[in-house]
Amino acid sequence: MTKIIKAPKGLEGVVVDTTSVSNVNAELSKLFYRGYEVAQLSREKSFDEVAYLLVYDSLPKNEELVDFIAKEKKYRPLEEDIQKMIIDLNEAHPMDALRTAVSFLGAKKPKRSFDIDTKVNQDKFINLYAQIPTIIAYHYRASKGLEIIEPLERLTRSENFFNMCFGTIPSKEILKAFEVSMILYAEHSFNASTFSARVITSTTSDLHSAITGAIGALKGPLHGGANEQVMYVLKDLMKTNNTEDWLKEQLDKKRKIMGFGHRVYKNGDSRVPTMQKHLELLTSTEEEKLLLKKQKELAECMTKTKGILPNLDFPAGPAYHMMGFDIPTFTPIFVMSRIVGWTAHVIEQTENNRIIRPLSKYIGK
Ligand code: COA
Repeated sequence: MTKIIKAPKGLEGVVVDTTSVSNVNAELSKLFYRGYEVAQLSREKSFDEVAYLLVYDSLPKNEELVDFIAKEKKYRPLEEDIQKMIIDLNEAHPMDALRTAVSFLGAKKPKRSFDIDTKVNQDKFINLYAQIPTIIAYHYRASKGLEIIEPLERLTRSENFFNMCFGTIPSKEILKAFEVSMILYAEHSFNASTFSARVITSTTSDLHSAITGAIGALKGPLHGGANEQVMYVLKDLMKTNNTEDWLKEQLDKKRKIMGFGHRVYKNGDSRVPTMQKHLELLTSTEEEKLLLKKQKELAECMTKTKGILPNLDFPAGPAYHMMGFDIPTFTPIFVMSRIVGWTAHVIEQTENNRIIRPLSKYIGK
């Protein structure tokens, strides 16, 4: 007979499998990707290098990086049918459009649908790594009735994304802050979307199915969707004079304050200081200075009253706002990065698989 083990609600504190992709050290508030400290990676490496590290299990040699970047540039354009589909979905939330587009791309390669060999998954990954920014930018322009801007091979992945959205390439400070946010968002062990991707993979389903499911999980405001909610919170706060009173009112109404709290980190999210530093570097206009002031006040008041600390979404949301993105684009930008971690986990699950199938305790009629 199967031995019954009762897991806590939300699987809190349960170790469900081993991983060598990343290590979230909650005691020291540190994060490591494949043994490298992430704060250091964000200072010294490009996002392409970090993406390669996570998916291919080592930092790239020069010629490997050149080859990886060349492929990413080549795969950026989208075929006409998917362009049309994205434009048809111009009124959808960009996360819904992105989830549908990734599923569509998977259905376009039916012969390889059940192929889950590591090399095949890595090839499928580079396609998605290149095309997800194009999908987001196309939808961004279509939703505003603007003409589509095609990808340009001479630009880096980040530069090209800004150009496809806005038709310009931003300052070095903005590009660096964006790359740093990509690196910090890339991977975070068995979070809800990654675990969803692993569950789907465990049935020996394919990469596109796992990524489609993961995008659905990330969209929720308790997970990736929080970076959008943070900005609504800050906009609301900007209209008030007293942050402490605003917070008391929210807490009295038993509302959760988005961008605070974490299941794993209780002594602070390791990624916050790096992202907060870049947020502060982005601040220049009077409106941005006020936004930053309110953001810092809220962090202070929340820590003082509830002892709950900010998570990465708290500085990332306003940083994307200062970079010029509208709020519904924030979580899709998270996908541009997390596609990397999801893929690394899909490969790891595939290479050492057992179907994930827990039990439930029946309490119904
Ligand atoms: N605002 C107000 N109270 C919060 C809070 C927040 N952001 N996060 C946690 N708490 C409180 C809970 O109300 C609960 O209080 P209680 O014991 O009096 O009921 C306690 O802290 C424990 O929180 P809980 O929701 O059980 O923690 P969890 O591990 O299940 O959830 C999160 C973790 C991240 C989902 C949760 O902190 C949250 O909803 N945060 C806001 C959304 C967010 O920023 N998500 C991004 C995560 S990276």
